Amino acid sequence: MEEVRIALRNVGKIKPDSIEDYIAAGGYEALKKARTLDRGKLIRTIEETSRLRGRGGAAFSTGKKWSSAYASKEESKYLVCNADEGEPGTYKDRVILEGDPHTVIEGLLIGAYAIGAKECFLYVRGEYEKSIKLLRRAVKQAEEKGLTGEVSIKVVSGAGAYICGEGTAIVNSLEGLRGEPRLKPPSMAVRGLNQKPTVVNNVETFALIPEIVNKGAGWFGAIGAEKFPGTKLMCLSGDVVNKVCVEVPTNATLQDVVEGFGGGVVNGKKLKAIQLGGSSCGFVTPDQLDTPIDFDSIGSIGASLGSGAVYVIDESRNLVDILWEIAKFFRHESCGKCTPCREGTMRVEELLEKLAKGEGSQADIELIRTLADYMQKSCFCPLGQSATTAFLSAWKLFPEDFAAKLRKEA
Ligand SMILES: Cc1cc2nc3c(=O)[nH]c(=O)nc-3n(C[C@H](O)[C@H](O)[C@H](O)COP(=O)(O)O)c2cc1C
Repeated sequence: MEEVRIALRNVGKIKPDSIEDYIAAGGYEALKKARTLDRGKLIRTIEETSRLRGRGGAAFSTGKKWSSAYASKEESKYLVCNADEGEPGTYKDRVILEGDPHTVIEGLLIGAYAIGAKECFLYVRGEYEKSIKLLRRAVKQAEEKGLTGEVSIKVVSGAGAYICGEGTAIVNSLEGLRGEPRLKPPSMAVRGLNQKPTVVNNVETFALIPEIVNKGAGWFGAIGAEKFPGTKLMCLSGDVVNKVCVEVPTNATLQDVVEGFGGGVVNGKKLKAIQLGGSSCGFVTPDQLDTPIDFDSIGSIGASLGSGAVYVIDESRNLVDILWEIAKFFRHESCGKCTPCREGTMRVEELLEKLAKGEGSQADIELIRTLADYMQKSCFCPLGQSATTAFLSAWKLFPEDFAAKLRKEA
């Protein structure tokens, strides 16, 4: 299996700080073409023919999101590029931004034209200093060449929290408020930033747009899986030989990704599991590696594609140790807005520490299961609701790891 590079088509080939390089590679042609098209028709083609679905984790139809904002009669509308990339094991957006910032800006300008937004924001993870610098320079270059027209693009350094990557929390953060999620409905396309229609899309989603416009929505829709066409960036990490980010058609299997591009498990060890999609997702076992990486196929095995993170775990590891690390992450990242998440992530971390250190009991495991149930049902947003997904998955798939960690009674 070969990589199919659409979002990454220029990465490694052009100088990321040169708009001339980008233009020489065909850059900004799609923007020019898009601006000659009827906006409603452009959105319909993205929605129905390309069938592009967001690459930020939820896989929602990009065209549908755009069409709700387009339909709004409000004068002000906003378009936001989500480059917060806080998911552990995920570094695909950084690869795009550091290698080809103009492709994201071009995708953003096409989106702005389509929905009728005059103000755009690139909300970038604060630690991504290089990306921020490159993007600011790229925006200036695009402005100087008159490509932005009457659209303003602001590059904003993120507020340093995982929750700030959640669509409504970004909007809070952009308004200068604490990074906390907002209640939905109303949807952001109805009332988002400054109470105006707002669309938030991921970096990878925007990076695909110029080629969809250039080569045609039908061309894109014919690549990969029927219901989740195109390519997906996958980020390999953990006990894998090649820790790389690859762009593969969505009918590639997990096997293609882990063995083909990843080169398999390090030190000739056997694969125990992969955690797919990030810290808020469950585990996949070796017998499921023939599953294609499209959103729906992955969902059908009870897992989640999420952001495309592929954390490889070798046979020597006990998952309870990994769960403790995940629990530390969620305890640290809980924004504190709702009690079940604020208190729950703390208790879960304490209990998993006990278990990981060999000091826990069966009753502690039961207590985490009860907490997980409450948290899934009562946390305000997906951060808390999914903070214990990995625990529940590991408990189901690898109960022996928990048994091995139980306190030895004297
Ligand atoms: C806790 C949390 C963190 C998130 N972090 C990100 C992120 O860093 N980047 C991102 O694109 N989406 C993130 N999302 C998903 C966004 O809410 C949203 O669905 C996405 O940006 C929409 O873009 P898309 O339609 O192009 O996928 C996060 C969601 C949650 C619940």
